[in-house]
Amino acid sequence: MKVGIDRIEFSTPNRYLDLVDLAHARGADPNKYLIGIGQRKMAVPTLSQDIVAMGANAAEGMFGGLDDKEKASIGLLIVATESGVDQSKASALFVHDLLGLPSSMRAIEIKEACYGGTAGLQLAADFVRAHPGTKALVIAADIARYGLNAGGEVTQGAGAVAMLVAENPHILALEERSVVRSRSTDDFWRPNYSAEAFAKGKYSEQVYLEMFAEDWREAESLGLTQVSGLQALLFHIPFSKMGRKGLRTLESVIPVSDYERLTARFEKGIMYGQEVGNLYTASLYLSLISLLERDESLCAGDRIGLFSYGSGSVAELFFGILQTGYRDRLNRTGHEALLAARQRLSIDEYESIFSASLVTDGSQQDIEDGDPAALHALIRMEGHERFYR
Ligand code: CAA
Repeated sequence: MKVGIDRIEFSTPNRYLDLVDLAHARGADPNKYLIGIGQRKMAVPTLSQDIVAMGANAAEGMFGGLDDKEKASIGLLIVATESGVDQSKASALFVHDLLGLPSSMRAIEIKEACYGGTAGLQLAADFVRAHPGTKALVIAADIARYGLNAGGEVTQGAGAVAMLVAENPHILALEERSVVRSRSTDDFWRPNYSAEAFAKGKYSEQVYLEMFAEDWREAESLGLTQVSGLQALLFHIPFSKMGRKGLRTLESVIPVSDYERLTARFEKGIMYGQEVGNLYTASLYLSLISLLERDESLCAGDRIGLFSYGSGSVAELFFGILQTGYRDRLNRTGHEALLAARQRLSIDEYESIFSASLVTDGSQQDIEDGDPAALHALIRMEGHERFYR
């Protein structure tokens, strides 16, 4: 049975910070950010644009195309995030309510840093294989926060990707065989008491590259890489230079023509991410959307590799085959319009939005609506509860 991604959508906040402005404010050379890090802009969410709102808004983008029968066949909703809003209640339950999904289904949250989206996708695929006729909705949503003036500030971002996983998918059929490894590392983490993540930046890059190399070698020994037949190789993109470093490790390992093809397609895969920044769990899947929407040369039947990395650390290299008619399921015009319509913030506006916080004493807080045009938003805190539109 073929199982994989049947629909895919993303949402991102309607405001951004230009990284040249950030470089000037932090006394850095703009080329460090633009070339050295490889990013251009980062999305800046207001308090009303939390992961629940962004995740539900991403899923709404595909719901116009779903009939009632398809909606009723969703048996599993997974929200993958490392920016959760509650230690106990799954953010998936807020999303379940906002989307009006059937009650006879499972709704859960998954966490393993940036790998969570892939954990959700693989679990969803297994669920659909085990329950023929059902579908699963996977939402990867995150807000990457390191702090004002922090080393990782330039690699912040925010957004969500929603994927519908189904039998006979219209976009990407997932191969069942993949390589995956887990090992406990302290390269990046966010303790319960902190709103910002901590990272040992250089060490995190080292572990990412080591685990990619280990995955690649194992995949090769299992005959899974078959580079001449691999039309694209996507990476988790915390910032585009990181994925580029991963790809470069193959430069002297694979034939030149294969490396050139993978590099050309990699460039298409980083276009959207360079505009919004790190989406943690969703970054790899935003790269998939970017590749599929911005590359004109891929065809149905082409095989794509995807490298997923989550600090802490879990790394999986897996593969999928593009399906006939996949272009008809994409929304390039809508996504380009979404990015083009965003408001550019000044440094003062960005710092003020970044510094705003939710009440923690149970009092009532009416939250300024960051994007009245969006269907869903966090609108109020009261008695330690969250209320959404
Ligand atoms: N022109 C061009 N390039 C320049 C430049 C200039 N004027 N100035 C500096 N550069 C280059 C540097 O040579 C360097 O290139 P290489 O990486 O190829 O050596 C690059 O710009 C970055 O410069 P620094 O090494 O000085 O960067 P930094 O000390 O500011 O740290 C960072 C960069 C480690 C990525 C930091 O932003 C960070 O800690 N980010 C958060 C952690 C992270 O994203 N880690 C990624 C792996 S972990 C992961 O993937 C999970 C996740 O999502 C977090």
